[in-house]
Amino acid sequence: MTTSGSSTPDLKSAQKSKSKKDYSIYFQPPSLKEAKKRGKEEVTVHYNFSIPEDMEGIGRGKRYLVRTYGCQMNEHDSETISGILEQMGYAPAKDETEADIILFNTCAIRENAEDKVFGELGHMKRMKYNNPNLILGVCGCMSQEESVVNKILKSYQHVDLIFGTHNIHRLPHLLRDALFSKEMVVEVWSKEGDIIENMPKLREGSIKAWVNIMYGCDKFCTYCIVPYTRGKERSRRPDDVIAEVRELARQGFKEITLLGQNVNAYGKDFEDITYGFGDLLDDLRKIDIPRIRFTTSHPRDFDDHLIEVLAKGGNLVEQIHLPVQSGSTEVLKKMARKYSREHYLELVRKIKAAIPHAALTTDIIVGFPGETEEQFEETLSLVEEVGYDSAYTFIYSPREGTPAAVMEDNVPHEVKKQRLQRLMDLQNRISLEKNLALQGEVVELLVEGESKTNPDVLSGRTRTGKLVHFAGDKSLIGQFVHVRITEAKTWTLHGEIVTKVGV
Ligand code: 5AD
Ligand code: SF4
Repeated sequence: MTTSGSSTPDLKSAQKSKSKKDYSIYFQPPSLKEAKKRGKEEVTVHYNFSIPEDMEGIGRGKRYLVRTYGCQMNEHDSETISGILEQMGYAPAKDETEADIILFNTCAIRENAEDKVFGELGHMKRMKYNNPNLILGVCGCMSQEESVVNKILKSYQHVDLIFGTHNIHRLPHLLRDALFSKEMVVEVWSKEGDIIENMPKLREGSIKAWVNIMYGCDKFCTYCIVPYTRGKERSRRPDDVIAEVRELARQGFKEITLLGQNVNAYGKDFEDITYGFGDLLDDLRKIDIPRIRFTTSHPRDFDDHLIEVLAKGGNLVEQIHLPVQSGSTEVLKKMARKYSREHYLELVRKIKAAIPHAALTTDIIVGFPGETEEQFEETLSLVEEVGYDSAYTFIYSPREGTPAAVMEDNVPHEVKKQRLQRLMDLQNRISLEKNLALQGEVVELLVEGESKTNPDVLSGRTRTGKLVHFAGDKSLIGQFVHVRITEAKTWTLHGEIVTKVGV
């Protein structure tokens, strides 16, 4: 591994001497085969993150931009990346033209997410031509895929830096390499890293905050790339999570969302204590923070203790995202979801009995390899039976290296598109019905800000995660209000203010 020493190298001349043909790889590209292995070695938690002395002020007078694609986990990683860059002295750029460093924090979940990034990376060639000193980096899930790294090495040589999801804490070192070497810097660990605590985070806003509780996924659903790009399940220690939430409460945050690819598996990797997700929520609910959400749940690990704790309510809000993926037991088996339609419906029944006002949301994939019309109709009937408040729906996208990518698929794309439309039509009808049932009701909102389309209107969310627009004074932003629902649409609600909560 090549890193510069502590003496201050000559940045200007190093950058000037960079030319396209000088680029080469520093490190081994990632390997999906390696990423699949699940080691028994213990996870070490590191508490001593710091910026190397020679990189501390390196960004002074310079600006950065992080472009984020994909899920909340990526959004939160970008907050860490921004925090690290700001600790090195960089300031945020308004747009890419004034940026000295641009990082693409990418998503690999479906092919169209990747196509978008490659399109944007292509546009960056001109940017780089106009400003040869610009540092262009790619990180996030795409950088964990060997095919992506090879493609960038071959066809996107204007990229200066590629780093993986386990290498974020190495950013200052990698940036040093990228600034002072003539070569493309690639550092992607295929084997998952340890847990790094105490990295700086630049949180967006001061009302809602993400909090990681675990990293990685061991489920290996056959369609999914995440276990390869995010590594094995590693839970943060309860004390570290609790301390972070306490600190956010102290800073005045009103809502936190606990993050993990499979939050229900929280704690299963602890060897010294028996402490699961239910235990964590039971401890967190005692902290004086008004709202706690979490995402994403896997139905397989959603146990009775967790339902019991959620039923206590209080700051544990009644919104549960419970991806089902398919309503057909046969398809679920091919997906390796490890539950049946009946098991899922039983779980939903238990949740509804314990938490009567719970809003359930889900993720569904249509057109999984070989999905028959009957199997798809089982998905429709499950959606009807559960009555989700909303659903994220996707056409199956083959991901290289996953088991489903080599399954025989006789379903024409046109049929998949029609199924998606039929599913969306059904869900939209149900979402509208659910929203119409709220008309005339008074709901509690956390006011998040001005409406995106009309600055005279404020927007807030109910405990169940529904977006409500209402006319109100900007001083209410960050406060709780009671609003009566006056108009219901498929995706949004409109209301009028009744009282400020606590007044
Ligand atoms: N194709 C389509 N959708 C996918 N998802 C995950 N992998 C794929 C894929 N290969 C969906 C699942 C998951 C959500 C985050 O993305 O529904 O829950
Ligand atoms: Fe992917 Fe399944 Fe893990 Fe979710 S639980 S991240 S769908 S492998």
